[in-house]
Amino acid sequence: MAVSIKSEREIGLMRDAGKILAEVHARLGEFVRPGISTWEVDQFGERLIRSYHCVPNFLHYNGYPASICVSVNDEVVHGIPHRNHMLREGDIVSLDAGLIYKGYHSDAARTHAVGKISADAQRLINVTRQSFFEGIRMARAGNHLNDICKTIDRYLTFNGYGIVRDLVGHGIGKKLHEDPEIPNFAMRRRGVRLRPGMTLAVEPMVNMGGWQVEWLEDDWTVVTADGSLSAHYENTILITNGEPEILTLLQ
Ligand code: MF3
Ligand code: CO
Repeated sequence: MAVSIKSEREIGLMRDAGKILAEVHARLGEFVRPGISTWEVDQFGERLIRSYHCVPNFLHYNGYPASICVSVNDEVVHGIPHRNHMLREGDIVSLDAGLIYKGYHSDAARTHAVGKISADAQRLINVTRQSFFEGIRMARAGNHLNDICKTIDRYLTFNGYGIVRDLVGHGIGKKLHEDPEIPNFAMRRRGVRLRPGMTLAVEPMVNMGGWQVEWLEDDWTVVTADGSLSAHYENTILITNGEPEILTLLQ
C-alpha cells in the first residue's frame, strides 16, 4: 500500500479544490429548508460546482447518478436525490459533495437540520462533527493512522453511538479514493505512519442506534439496519509538520 505524498504544487491545488468545496458546502447549508426536494439540492450543488469551473467528481462515479449524495434521516450515505423526495421539518439531511479542480479532488460532508429538529438529533449531529475534530488532533506527522481511528472510536463509543464499519475514509488527491483506508473504529494494527504532504478524507458515519447498515434496492443508498438516525461529517485534510490543515473548511 503506497500513500502518495503531495508536492508543494499539488498541495496548492488541493488547497484551492478544498476552498471551493468549503464555499459550495456553505451555500448548500443555506439552501436546505423544509419543502425543497433532494433533487433540487443536487441541481443547486451541481450548478454551483460548475460555476467554479470544477467538475462534480461523484457524478457517474461507479454509475452514481448525481453530483451530491443526499441522505435523509436513517439514510447513512450515498442517498440518491429524487424529484419527489421532499425535505420536511424535523428531518436531518447529510450532504456529501466533492469536486475536481485542475486534476485534484476534494471531498467533504455535513449533516444539516431541516427546520426545527429534536434535541437527540441535534446531539447526534454535534457529536459526529466533534468526533472528526477529536480524531484529527492525532493527525500529525510521526503518528500512525490508527491513532486517528481509535480516537474517533473512543469518543463515539463513549457517547453511546453506533459506528458504521462497512464504509471508511480514504486518501485523496489525483483520485477520489486513494490509499489508505481510514476506518472510524480502532484497527488491530498501527496502520501507516503519517507524513507531511499526505491528504486524507476523514469521515465518521454515525448511527444513533446500532452500527449495522443495509443497502437499498437501488444498490447505492445505505440505511441503518434498525431505522435509527444517522449523521456524517467529513473534511479533506493535509498532514503537515504541525497541526493538520483542514482544506475543506473556510478559514
Ligand atoms: N464522499 C463519498 C466517498 O468518500 C462519496 C463517493 S460515492 C459516490 O466515498 F459514488 F457518490 F461518488
Ligand atoms: Co469521502
